[in-house]
Amino acid sequence: MSEYILEIKNLTKEFPGVRALEDVSLKVKKGEIHSLCGENGAGKSTLMSCISGVYPKGDYQGKVFFKGRETAYHSVKDSEREGLAIIHQELALSPYLSIYENIFLGHMETSFGIINWNKYIKESKKYLNTVGLHEPPETIVSKLGVGKQQLVEIARALSKKTELLILDEPTSSLNDDESEKLLDLILEFKRQGITSVMISHKLNEVLKVADTVTILRDGRSISTYDVKADNLTEEKIIKDMVGRDLTHRFPERKSSPTETVMEVKNWTVYHPDYHDIKVVDDVSFYLRKGEILAFCGPMGAGRTELMMSIFGRSYGFRSEGELRINGKTCTFNSARVAINSGLGYISEDRKGLGLVLIQDVKTNITHASLGKLSRLGIMNSQKEIKEAERYRKELNIRTPSVNQLVRNLSGGNQQKVVVSKSLLANPDIFIVDEPTRGIDVGAKTEIYGILNNMIAAGKSVIMVSSELPEALGMADRIYVMNEGKIKGVLGKEEATQEKIMHLALVG
Ligand SMILES: Nc1ncnc2c1ncn2[C@@H]1O[C@H](COP(=O)(O)OP(=O)(O)OP(=O)(O)O)[C@@H](O)[C@H]1O
Ligand SMILES: [Mg+2]
Repeated sequence: MSEYILEIKNLTKEFPGVRALEDVSLKVKKGEIHSLCGENGAGKSTLMSCISGVYPKGDYQGKVFFKGRETAYHSVKDSEREGLAIIHQELALSPYLSIYENIFLGHMETSFGIINWNKYIKESKKYLNTVGLHEPPETIVSKLGVGKQQLVEIARALSKKTELLILDEPTSSLNDDESEKLLDLILEFKRQGITSVMISHKLNEVLKVADTVTILRDGRSISTYDVKADNLTEEKIIKDMVGRDLTHRFPERKSSPTETVMEVKNWTVYHPDYHDIKVVDDVSFYLRKGEILAFCGPMGAGRTELMMSIFGRSYGFRSEGELRINGKTCTFNSARVAINSGLGYISEDRKGLGLVLIQDVKTNITHASLGKLSRLGIMNSQKEIKEAERYRKELNIRTPSVNQLVRNLSGGNQQKVVVSKSLLANPDIFIVDEPTRGIDVGAKTEIYGILNNMIAAGKSVIMVSSELPEALGMADRIYVMNEGKIKGVLGKEEATQEKIMHLALVG
């Protein structure tokens, strides 16, 4: 048998108006970790969808060989049966089912028509342990944060006898600590003989685990490197991704914050189901005009819950505390009121809260700014298109037109639409929760530049970020949270990764 478990030969895939992949060839060695890199919209997810049967045979041109045999999958089920599992970029769990039901959904055995639930609950614990998720298997998935849901997906893939595991940005919603655990897990799979293909925008992670790296650009495979033999560096990958050198990942900004614009005092939020648990516990902080604040901390530290409750998303059973904006006490019982008071919010959950997938790009971008773009309740559609086009250019949103449905955009380009929408609303205080999740290195720099411009115009930004380099590169002050509490705050000059981690753990 050949040393390659997967071979793709001259694959081309078109969507109406878009050639997503053009004549791509790729070989994956048995037992290796092969990384796929490329800008948002380069075609990475589409390529994986073609080989795993999401797009059935006939939907693309070219040939795919798995374990030496040419494949002709009609659905994902076909490829799973052969030992190929794919974990998608966008979580694909059933939100109202439990963890263990999600793990075994579609491959539970019955005995005389009866499912032995206890057996599956017990077995699911084994997989949950392997991925390091310590939640009761009966927990309903929608109660878990995005990061934990990701772990359920991986547990699900493990429960099938998988020989080739495809992970589409598996760590994009995890923080450094959890990402590291996950990468260790992938390395452990490698020791057990499982081959992995990992798509990622986190190049440091790619270099850490991958044996081979292939780079896609504009739907073509540009280069393939052996990480060790070719002495591969992040700079080299970036150069092939974007076709040029990228020097400053965090653009320079002069920082001179002035008066306090927002003050939060003794803020406490109670868990939506367990009313005596505090997810945010007596938090106080302030934000100045012309300042970027970052909130760091492990998953479940309460950062998102804090921001959501401030913004009037009414997270939790109840919240208490004082919120002052420009010296005036405020209570926002809906997001609309918060927006009208000059707040903007980018949610970490772009599908749940940020976007309407079945609408087009321009409608999504202008959604939070209807007042600005309409007169007497009638939308000025020329203005709408003009504004949408402006952001399409500025953030390089890859789409054939602003009339394209958002669900047809690549993950990173969907995120750019979310960012555009909030930018257009032009808030005075901009709360961004994982704003660059799934965004490629080049586009990240564009977004940082835009945030810097906002600051220069006298606005303020609160950034929740799991990427410490991002927090360190952008923020004037960094609040470190854990277990619902603020454990400490660091100024730009004194902050380091080690200090942040130390504060989170020890306080
Ligand atoms: N269902 C679809 N209909 C139309 N166009 C699509 C569809 N799915 C993907 N595309 C287009 O194909 C191209 C490649 O998209 P793909 O999702 O593969 O990118 P990607 O490399 O995974 O990007 P990202 O890093 O943002 O996830 C993009 O231009 C995208 O807009
Ligand atoms: Mg993708």
